[in-house]
Amino acid sequence: MSIAIRYYTQTGNTKKLAEAIANQLGVEAKPVTAPLEEKVDFLFLCNSVYWAGMDKAVKQFVGDNAANIGTLVNLSTAALIDSTYAQMKKVAREAGVTLCEKEFHCRGKFAALHAGHPDEADIAAAVAFVRSVVA
Ligand SMILES: Cc1cc2nc3c(=O)[nH]c(=O)nc-3n(C[C@H](O)[C@H](O)[C@H](O)COP(=O)(O)O)c2cc1C
Repeated sequence: MSIAIRYYTQTGNTKKLAEAIANQLGVEAKPVTAPLEEKVDFLFLCNSVYWAGMDKAVKQFVGDNAANIGTLVNLSTAALIDSTYAQMKKVAREAGVTLCEKEFHCRGKFAALHAGHPDEADIAAAVAFVRSVVA
């Protein structure tokens, strides 16, 4: 089974999540500036929300790499919203990419909110999540 991990981060929370699952899966976590060089069965795409939307670099990555994405698995952090899944669903549909029905979301620290998140429990939950997807 081939797996890739990509992330987009502005303040480090999503990178922390991506690196934890990378460690679990034995696959390097790379930023979305790194294109997929070959087709993968699963792309774990770690992203977040900024002023209510995913960064355009994340949307661009999905569009540009659509042909190499078997199933896109969404992992997100945010301070307020429940997840970026609904936004990713639209992006995946427009790109013709299959989006996994399962997703992972946790809080990410932002200003005075959610200090320490993703924390150890969030990381453990993310690792359990990716294990369940690739099992
Ligand atoms: C500029 C900025 C805008 C944000 N806007 C939102 C928002 O509209 N809704 C929300 O739930 N979280 C918002 N957040 C919180 C981030 O989604 C959260 O901190 C996330 O974990 C950031 O991930 P990162 O550290 O990988 O960039 C915002 C954070 C930043 C830095």
